[in-house]
Amino acid sequence: MTKTIDEILLQEEFSRDDLIALIDSDDEGKKKLFQKAHEVKQQFIGNKVYFRGLVEFSNICSKDCYYCGIRKSNKNAHRYNITDEDILEAARFAHENKYGSMVIQGGELDSPVFVDRIDHLLKEIKKLSNGELGITLSLGEQTEKTYQRWFDSGAHRYLLRIESSTPELYYKIHPNNPKHDFDTRLECLYKLQRVGYQTGTGVMIGLPFQTSEHLADDLLFFKKLSVDMVGMGPYIEHENTPLYQHRHLLIPLQDRFTLALKMIAILRIMMKDINIAAATALQAIDPIGREKALKVGANIIMPNITPTDFRGDYLLYENKPCIDEGADECSNCLEARIKFAGDEIGYGHWGDSKHFFERRKQVSVGSQQ
Ligand code: 5AD
Ligand code: FES
Repeated sequence: MTKTIDEILLQEEFSRDDLIALIDSDDEGKKKLFQKAHEVKQQFIGNKVYFRGLVEFSNICSKDCYYCGIRKSNKNAHRYNITDEDILEAARFAHENKYGSMVIQGGELDSPVFVDRIDHLLKEIKKLSNGELGITLSLGEQTEKTYQRWFDSGAHRYLLRIESSTPELYYKIHPNNPKHDFDTRLECLYKLQRVGYQTGTGVMIGLPFQTSEHLADDLLFFKKLSVDMVGMGPYIEHENTPLYQHRHLLIPLQDRFTLALKMIAILRIMMKDINIAAATALQAIDPIGREKALKVGANIIMPNITPTDFRGDYLLYENKPCIDEGADECSNCLEARIKFAGDEIGYGHWGDSKHFFERRKQVSVGSQQ
């Protein structure tokens, strides 16, 4: 006999079939799922939302992901690279406005000059904020030595989305060559955990060729890896990318949005103490998309603090929101939005993932036995 959504939601653990049923739930089931996720969030996380000031400092990328607007082969992308001074200015803004922490994100490069540059920036940001500003990096696949070096210079969180945890789907959305190797990407997540980062990953939702089974496996993957943070959002097609040719396979944007909310809600119930980001891509579909994600389990928002002149060029997907506003306007706008969603901003805190500390405790208990 198949279980009802009520029965599934009463369980402590979800099987793969349970996850598929939750992902495919109808409107009635979805409401129950969202309600339960909301309760779990209130109980385990509370109503504090943490800010990560996001600086997208360069769209120069050595990779060629089929979905991404800043892929190397997109000759239509106007490339930019913000100066160190502008990045430090954005860090100062984040610090002065009590964001607690910032994310440094850019296209993936791995030259020695690039590695040195990031290292230098980390040290400068630590200096200008008296060590107060937390720093998350989102700079793709690197060697363990590089991850260690950046960690030693002050980065303590790292985001590297697996994009899809099913190799077969992974190779439908990436070229099948050594530069886009699934096992290498997976190994990078292990390296990050070994070095000691709070490690975040995630996937895109509503990709062409993606099934509910793939999404269920993504959720099980997050759990198995015991990740500290997850950021996942809807896939949004970009005209100048190879995946665009498969757009006839896509479900409508609104359905991708709903699917993303369901994934967030299910994950909150499965992993009660992790940080879950309300992805910006949600807002490309729904003007209050991120706030809706907060209601069903997300607890992190990444306001864009990239200098406005450059925002229009970091176009990973179409219809990206907030590209004309300045950082000041973004934070005022977000503050109002978050209050409206019934949450509160945890100003001046790093907003670390509780899960990370629990995981650490278990490791040290394990090593004493
Ligand atoms: N739609 C949605 N998300 C995208 N990303 C890249 N391209 C797209 C797109 N077309 C996401 C990827 C990447 C993150 C920085 O942005 O998941 O990891
Ligand atoms: Fe830049 Fe995928 S296109 S990392």
